[in-house]
Amino acid sequence: MRKKIVAGNWKMNRTAHEAKTLVAEIKAALGGFNAVECVLCPPFTSLGAVQDGVAGSPIGIGAQNVHWEKSGAFTGEISADMLREKGCTHVIVGHSERRQYFGETDETVNKRARAALAAGLKPIVCVGETLAEREAGTTFQVIERQVRAGLQGLAGADWDKLVLAYEPVWAIGTGKTATSAQAQEVHAFIRRLLRELAGGAADGIRIQYGGSMKPDNARELLGQPDIDGGLIGGAALQAASFVAIVKAGA
Ligand code: 13P
Repeated sequence: MRKKIVAGNWKMNRTAHEAKTLVAEIKAALGGFNAVECVLCPPFTSLGAVQDGVAGSPIGIGAQNVHWEKSGAFTGEISADMLREKGCTHVIVGHSERRQYFGETDETVNKRARAALAAGLKPIVCVGETLAEREAGTTFQVIERQVRAGLQGLAGADWDKLVLAYEPVWAIGTGKTATSAQAQEVHAFIRRLLRELAGGAADGIRIQYGGSMKPDNARELLGQPDIDGGLIGGAALQAASFVAIVKAGA
């Protein structure tokens, strides 16, 4: 049985001051709830506030990006050790917004994922097709390319730490959710690919769905056999909607 994992990707939202309130509300609303793994991924400058805020709770902390080098002249980037120091257990890599706006490629996604693993962070590797790719009938080709290239070189114990996120680009922030059948179809496809790449470990790898997941569609999506959690954008910015989604996974 895979324990479900719901992560809030705050994107470029919530100052440290604002984060403090949001985390306190989430922590209070979750109580000791631990049936679903819950991770908060704030902007870098709010990691400290989140670290303080989640103390004494099972809530995990994730960042939204990580560089593959340990240190050096990489203006604007951040290292895995810096994230670990702020209590991060997870890091999102290859989000479509990074691919779309910041030149992220399958190759850099792979480098970031491997560096995260080497440093003891669990990468949440994002994949997903654009609307044009879906309409052109190339969804599975795109996903296969992103999964194979993004996970190249992973081996052994890496597989147990990996989380994947399927986020159809056309469903992100648009209010257009993939139907549970559309999402399950891609998740099952990813699972088959993982069996080829990771063997038996594939059955333990969590695959999150992301893209307009809300309290009113979460239960249906999270009820699919290969949907093992959610990566939540907009609905993660309010404690009530985020906690409702986390609890829908139980
Ligand atoms: P929305 O939930 O706002 O559609 O964003 C999804 C997402 O991109 C999470 O990483």
